[in-house]
Amino acid sequence: MVKLLVRLLLALASPLLSIATLYHDVADLPDTSFDFIVIGGGTAGNVVANRLTENPKYNVLVLEAGLSNEGVLPAIVPFLGSSLPNSLYDWNYSTTAQTGLNGRAIPYPRGCLLGGSSSINYMVYSRGSSDDWDQYAEVTGDSGWSWDHVQQYFQKNERWSSPPDNHSTVGEYDPRVHSKSGINAVTLSGFPQGIDERLIKTTQELSEDFPFNLDINGGTPLGIGWGQSTIDSHGQRSSSATSYLGPQFINRTNLHVLIKAQVSRLIQTALNPPTFKSVEFIQGGTGELQVVSATKEIILSAGSIGSPHILLNSGIGDRQALIDIGIQPIVHLPDVGQNLSDQATIGVYWEVNSTDTFDTISRNSTLAGEVLEEWLDDRSGRFVSSVLGNILGWVRLPLDNPVLEGKVDPAPGSNSPHYEILPLNGLAPLPLPPTGNFLSLVSALLSPLSRGSVKLSSDDPFAAPLIDPGFLNNTQDLYMMREGVKILLKLVSAPVWDNYIVGLYGPAAVLANATDVEVEEYVRELASTIFHPLGSASMSARGAQHGVVDPDLTVKGVAGLRIVDGSVLPRPPSANPQAAVYVIAERASDFIKTAWA
Ligand SMILES: Cc1cc2nc3c(=O)[nH]c(=O)nc-3n(C[C@H](O)[C@H](O)[C@H](O)COP(=O)(O)OP(=O)(O)OC[C@H]3O[C@@H](n4cnc5c(N)ncnc54)[C@H](O)[C@@H]3O)c2cc1C
Ligand SMILES: *[C@@H]1O[C@H](CO)[C@@H](O)[C@H](O)[C@H]1NC(C)=O
Ligand SMILES: *[C@@H]1O[C@H](CO)[C@@H](O)[C@H](O)[C@H]1NC(C)=O
Ligand SMILES: *[C@@H]1O[C@H](CO)[C@@H](O)[C@H](O)[C@H]1NC(C)=O
Ligand SMILES: *[C@@H]1O[C@H](CO)[C@@H](O)[C@H](O)[C@H]1NC(C)=O
Ligand SMILES: *[C@@H]1O[C@H](CO)[C@@H](O)[C@H](O)[C@H]1NC(C)=O
Ligand SMILES: *[C@@H]1O[C@H](CO)[C@@H](O)[C@H](O)[C@H]1NC(C)=O
Ligand SMILES: *[C@@H]1O[C@H](CO)[C@@H](O)[C@H](O)[C@H]1NC(C)=O
Ligand SMILES: *[C@@H]1O[C@H](CO)[C@@H](O)[C@H](O)[C@H]1NC(C)=O
Repeated sequence: MVKLLVRLLLALASPLLSIATLYHDVADLPDTSFDFIVIGGGTAGNVVANRLTENPKYNVLVLEAGLSNEGVLPAIVPFLGSSLPNSLYDWNYSTTAQTGLNGRAIPYPRGCLLGGSSSINYMVYSRGSSDDWDQYAEVTGDSGWSWDHVQQYFQKNERWSSPPDNHSTVGEYDPRVHSKSGINAVTLSGFPQGIDERLIKTTQELSEDFPFNLDINGGTPLGIGWGQSTIDSHGQRSSSATSYLGPQFINRTNLHVLIKAQVSRLIQTALNPPTFKSVEFIQGGTGELQVVSATKEIILSAGSIGSPHILLNSGIGDRQALIDIGIQPIVHLPDVGQNLSDQATIGVYWEVNSTDTFDTISRNSTLAGEVLEEWLDDRSGRFVSSVLGNILGWVRLPLDNPVLEGKVDPAPGSNSPHYEILPLNGLAPLPLPPTGNFLSLVSALLSPLSRGSVKLSSDDPFAAPLIDPGFLNNTQDLYMMREGVKILLKLVSAPVWDNYIVGLYGPAAVLANATDVEVEEYVRELASTIFHPLGSASMSARGAQHGVVDPDLTVKGVAGLRIVDGSVLPRPPSANPQAAVYVIAERASDFIKTAWA
């Protein structure tokens, strides 16, 4: 163990010294005025900071509430990432009591460190369907958001990399739809898992329901295929902090990144049109309020919870709701914090006839230490990938299913899945019993109809907001989740699972011979989040009466302020959203460069 600790210290010591423009103390900032200020050094914010500072004439300040990602082992070693929620690197939010979840309030992690949620997420990289993007273009009236047009931004983001174990990837992806010229590393699995072959065999045995898809990121994701993750060829997480703020960028003399800087609000600097070019924040644990200003623009990239929270604190939101909580309203923009969407998940668990699952590692710290040693030695072994399986599924419910018959398809088109299936070669997130090996299959509802909100809990800008994703509030979502459970049960009915599955485990035991009502009750008791809050500061067409930002991401009725993060997505993509967030940030950077050219 001592040897391991020494190894860890050596592995982590050097990067701390290499950073030139990362400030730990506000007193070290060279100035209080910058061309651009980016609020939130998260997934989107770091992209904008990188792209704007390509122009040496622009000074950019990033204000990040959390700590640095440098040397944070669980944010580097992919398998350990699941220990980041409820840690020093998490905002530690909870939802309000969710009616649709039998009154449960659930933990709602958001990254609180450089890289934001890209530093704590499960690293799945999924672009969504072409329908998703074509619908964004349609509802915003901006064809620039269409699938074809955003390809250039996926390419600027993605740096396709060989997998950490250098295995042959022929037949696991389609090279024609990938880019090696981007900044953010994306790769296939770097360590084989016991269930890989069974999942691939399922695509042969049940090819109608679960066809094999060579590349789930080519715009037509339906089927089962090899997952792609934001992990580099050395088996390390690629976040917006390791990529867009990498060593070759962070040392730019025009880029300034201040950590431990929590923004409370924007300050109005001109009346007509209302202009907000100053930012108030506290830094480094002292309660003293600081102010910095932008000469050109403020870019709000605090995420789907942080961005509406800061807008509301600043008097930008629904006039009456602001008055009720004791905040002086400045701009009446009723949709700030409204229309929050998230993709609910439900897991099914089985005990399995195998010892080749990660349960063996989860319950044996000696073994876990050995696997970490392997990673430290040459970036190999089970820890080069996350706890998720190497393969993902994307499935549609037939439109003649009674849940959808006669209804509007909740998905944006016929090439869009209703469900994502995430297999795990072990038991998660249920507590692990002392013996046994397990399979978990998780289904995520990709196009929920339910919507929720982010609201202020008080006039104290540092108090956590009220987060209500409204999970399963719309009963059609509940029925869709019920059908999602049936799809998981069907998947393991393929003959290849016959000598593998021992039986349903734990709470999932009720699913044997269950009625629809019993499955719905199972869903209400166990459903959770896939951690994808979006839409709380939504884009809408220019001139629309609803929405928060125009298609160029400028805030409606306000000058000098853009929102660039997941909160602007009008609806969730049929995917995990980080790829979409990266695309939004890449395109926003072009908008800003053009506006100030
Ligand atoms: C546990 C977890 C697992 C996930 N798994 C996946 C996955 O596998 N694949 C996928 O595609 N997506 C996944 N996601 C979702 C994905 O990571 C997010 O949708 C995406 O990263 C959001 O990017 P963002 O820029 O909108 O916000 P963030 O990346 O969260 O950035 C917001 C930043 O702003 C900072 N901030 C907030 N408020 C303030 C303030 N007041 N002052 C200063 N700074 C502030 C935050 O600390 C943070 O750094 C996951 C998310 C979580 C939490
Ligand atoms: C989140 O909670 C954990 C565990 O209670 C705690 O250690 C951590 O400091 C909290 N995070 C923050 C940012 O306060
Ligand atoms: C993979 O190849 C790279 C160089 O191409 C090498 O550094 C690395 O050690 C190899 N990894 C494995 C596990 O073979
Ligand atoms: C930053 O570092 C890179 C190498 O990582 C180097 O090429 C570049 O010149 C450095 N820039 C500055 C401004 O020091
Ligand atoms: C835990 O792992 C170690 C190292 O691989 C092994 O020697 C030991 O037998 C394991 N313990 C149990 C209880 O399986
Ligand atoms: C969900 O439904 C409950 C009960 O009908 C209601 O109290 C709550 O406000 C709803 N939440 C949302 C976000 O609509
Ligand atoms: C477990 O798997 C072995 C083959 O690996 C098989 O012989 C045995 O019947 C299986 N047991 C169960 C309970 O399925
Ligand atoms: C109930 O489920 C079990 C296990 O799936 C199955 O063997 C059995 O046939 C089912 N019984 C009925 C009445 O459907
Ligand atoms: C939410 O989105 C819908 C559809 O875009 C829009 O009509 C509505 O005004 C938005 N706001 C609220 C609070 O529902």
